[in-house]
Amino acid sequence: MARSPRPASVWSLGHSILFLLATITTTSAQLASTGFSVTLNDVYYFVSPFSSGKIDVRRDSLLKVPRVLGFLPVTVVQDRVAHSDLTKLFANWTVIDDVYQAAFSEAIFLAESSGRNEPEGLAVTERQILPGLSSTVIAFKDSKIPSGPYFLEAATGSLYPVYRLYEDFAGAFTEPLIPTPDGKFQPMSAKIPGSSTLSVGVPSRLYFTKTADKPLAGVRLGVKDIYSLTGVKRSNGNRAWYSLYPPSNVTGPAIQRLIDAGAQIVGLQKTSQFANGEFATADWVDYHAPFNPRGDGYEDAGSSSSGAGASISSYEWLDIAIGSDTGGSIRGPAGIQGLFGNRPSHGLVSLDHVMPLAPTLDTPGFILRDPYLWDAASAAIYGNNYTSFGNEKAEYPQQIYTLEFPPASDPSIKLFEDFAEALAKFVGGAASPLDPEVKWAATRPAEAGNATLSDFFNTTYATIITKEQTALLRDPFYRDYAAAHSNRRPFINPTPLIRWAYGDSLPASALTTALAAQTLFTTWFTTHILSSNNTTTTTTTATCHTTPLLLYPAATGLSLPRNLYAGPPGIPFGFYASRIASFAGVPDLVFPLGEVGVMSDVTGQEERLPVAVSVLAARGCDGLLRLEG
Ligand SMILES: *[C@@H]1O[C@H](CO)[C@@H](O)[C@H](O)[C@H]1NC(C)=O
Ligand SMILES: *[C@@H]1O[C@H](CO)[C@@H](O)[C@H](O)[C@H]1NC(C)=O
Ligand SMILES: *[C@@H]1O[C@H](CO)[C@@H](O)[C@H](O)[C@H]1NC(C)=O
Ligand SMILES: *[C@@H]1O[C@H](CO)[C@@H](O)[C@H](O)[C@H]1NC(C)=O
Ligand SMILES: *[C@@H]1O[C@H](CO)[C@@H](O)[C@H](O)[C@H]1NC(C)=O
Ligand SMILES: *[C@@H]1O[C@H](CO)[C@@H](O)[C@H](O)[C@H]1NC(C)=O
Ligand SMILES: *[C@@H]1O[C@H](CO)[C@@H](O)[C@H](O)[C@H]1NC(C)=O
Repeated sequence: MARSPRPASVWSLGHSILFLLATITTTSAQLASTGFSVTLNDVYYFVSPFSSGKIDVRRDSLLKVPRVLGFLPVTVVQDRVAHSDLTKLFANWTVIDDVYQAAFSEAIFLAESSGRNEPEGLAVTERQILPGLSSTVIAFKDSKIPSGPYFLEAATGSLYPVYRLYEDFAGAFTEPLIPTPDGKFQPMSAKIPGSSTLSVGVPSRLYFTKTADKPLAGVRLGVKDIYSLTGVKRSNGNRAWYSLYPPSNVTGPAIQRLIDAGAQIVGLQKTSQFANGEFATADWVDYHAPFNPRGDGYEDAGSSSSGAGASISSYEWLDIAIGSDTGGSIRGPAGIQGLFGNRPSHGLVSLDHVMPLAPTLDTPGFILRDPYLWDAASAAIYGNNYTSFGNEKAEYPQQIYTLEFPPASDPSIKLFEDFAEALAKFVGGAASPLDPEVKWAATRPAEAGNATLSDFFNTTYATIITKEQTALLRDPFYRDYAAAHSNRRPFINPTPLIRWAYGDSLPASALTTALAAQTLFTTWFTTHILSSNNTTTTTTTATCHTTPLLLYPAATGLSLPRNLYAGPPGIPFGFYASRIASFAGVPDLVFPLGEVGVMSDVTGQEERLPVAVSVLAARGCDGLLRLEG
C-alpha cells in the first residue's frame, strides 16, 4: 500500500496543536469558499467561488425570486435583442447550452442598448417571457459580464458563474477541476448522487464566444493525468506519486496553448500507470480502469489514454480530451471506442512538464467525436508545425496502401474495403495491399543481414520505453520516495514493474542499439515506402500530396472483455503496423468506420462493437488527414 500520509505520532499531534495555538494568537483564520452546489428544478449545479463581477440592484426588486443561502438564480443578457425577442433567445440558449434552463430567467439583467426600441426609464419591469414564468427584467450597464445563467449573491450584488454537475459514471476522471482567476486550477468540491464516482462540472457555453484569437472558446477539455497544471497534483496513475509530490507550479506549453485558445479544462483523466498499457482486470491495481460504453458496457477501455476515450465515448457534455501516444495510447482507446484520435507527427510541440514514457516516441494528441473541432484543436496546439488544408482544395496522394486487413471471413472486412475504395475514388487513385515484410526483404539495408522486420525490430520499442522511463521517471521517483519514507520503495502496478525490470536486464548499450534501429527504420520506411518512387524526404506540403497514404485496422470489432483474466502482463515485443508511426514519427489518425455485431456473454444478446481504421501519412502532413469542410 502507499505509505503516505503516515499516521501522525502523538508527539507530532501535540506539536501541531502548540503550533496552531501559536498561529491563532498572531493571525486571523483563512476562510475561503470552494464553491457550493444547489439544485434548480432537480438539476444539480455548482456555484463558482469566483465572482464574475458586481451588479447594482435594488434589493426589493428581486424579493419574489427563490434563493438559497442568499444566492438567487438570474440571467444576464448582453445580446442586442428587443424585449419581444427574449423568448426566442432563451429558446435558442436551451438548444446550444446544457447549463441554462428557463428557471434562471425569473430575474433577467438586460444590458442597456441604444438599439433597443423601449421607452427609457423603465429600469425594472415585470414581463411574461417564458411560459408560466413571470420575469423581473432589470436594465444594467456592465458590458464585461458575459450572457448566461448566474447565481447572484443578494447581499453583495456579486454574480457567480454556474457549472452544471454531471456524474462520472464511466469512472474516467481522477480529479474534476475549476479554473481560478489567477490562471491556476483547483479541485471542484461537489458531489452529486452517483455510485463511487466523482462529479464533474461544466461551465455554461453561453459565457464564451469563438473569435480568431480564441478558436476553442468554451470547448470543454479533459486532460490526461500526466500533464502538469498550475495548482494541481498529478498521479500519473500511481497513488504513491500523487501523495508524494506537491501541486505543480507550472502549466506546460502544450496545455497552455489550448487554454490560450479558449479551451475550458474540466478535469484530469485516468491513465494506466505511468502511461504503460494495462488491461482492466488485475493490471489496474492503484486505480480502477474506466468503463468503455460500447458493446455490453464491459469491454476494456484501451490504454493508456483510457479516461480520454471512456469520457468522450460516454459524455455528450464533454467535447475533447487530450491524451498521449507512445506506442498506441491514443489510437487504441480511440479505435475500440469508436472515436477520432490522432498520434501526431513526433515533435510538433514541446512536452515540457508532461510525464515521460519515452521522449523519443512520446506525442500529445486528441480523442474526440467532432472531426471539425479536431482541425481547430490541432492548429491551436501544434501551432506553425500544423498545416491545415481546411481553406484550400487539398491535393491528395494517389497511392494508397492497405496493411494487415483482416481475412475475407471477418465481419469487419467490408467496412475496411469500402473505406479504402471510397478513399481511392476520392483521391483519384488506387488502393493496393502492402506487406511490409516483403518490401523489407527486397530492400532491407545491409545492417539488417537477412533478419525479417519482426526479428530486427522485435525488442526496439520495449528497449526504448523501458530504458528511457527508468532513467527519466523511475529512478528520481524512487530516490524522492525513499528519502521521504525511510528508504522504502513505492507500490508499482505489475505492468510498469515488469517492463522496468526488463529495461534493467539490458546493458546500457541496448538503448543506443535500439535508437540506431529506430533511425534505420525511419530511413528505410521513408525511402522505400513513403516516398515510393520519389527520393524526396523533406516534409513540405508538396510531399504531403505525393507520398502514399497507408491504411491499417485500428479496431476490428474484436471483443476484449474487461473481466478477462489475461494472465500476467508481458513485455511489448514484436513489430506490427501500429509501430510504424511510433518509430518513423509520422502521423497516424484513427477514423471510426462503423460497427459489427458481437455476441455478449454478459447480456446474452448480440451487441455492437466499433470498427475503425488508422491512416498514416508522411511526417508533418497531419493537416492533410481531416474531413472536407
Ligand atoms: C435563434 O437562432 C436562430 C438560428 O440560429 C437565429 O436565426 C435567430 O436570430 C436566433 N434568435 C435570437 C433571438 O437570438
Ligand atoms: C516551480 O518549482 C520548482 C521546483 O520546486 C522550482 O525550481 C521552480 O523555480 C518553480 N517555478 C515557478 C514558476 O515557480
Ligand atoms: C515545431 O517543431 C520543431 C521540431 O520538433 C520544434 O523544435 C519547434 O519548437 C516546434 N514549433 C513550435 C511552434 O512548437
Ligand atoms: C540468415 O543468415 C544466417 C547466416 O548469416 C544463416 O545461418 C541463416 O540460415 C539465414 N536465415 C535465413 C532465413 O535465410
Ligand atoms: C522477441 O524477443 C523476445 C525476448 O528476447 C523473445 O522471447 C522472442 O522470441 C522474440 N521474438 C521474435 C519474433 O524474435
Ligand atoms: C515504383 O516504380 C516501380 C518500378 O518502376 C513500379 O513497379 C511501382 O509500381 C512504382 N510504385 C509506385 C507507388 O508508383
Ligand atoms: C515525384 O514527386 C513529384 C512531385 O514532388 C511528382 O511530380 C512526380 O510525378 C513524382 N514522381 C514519381 C515517379 O512518382
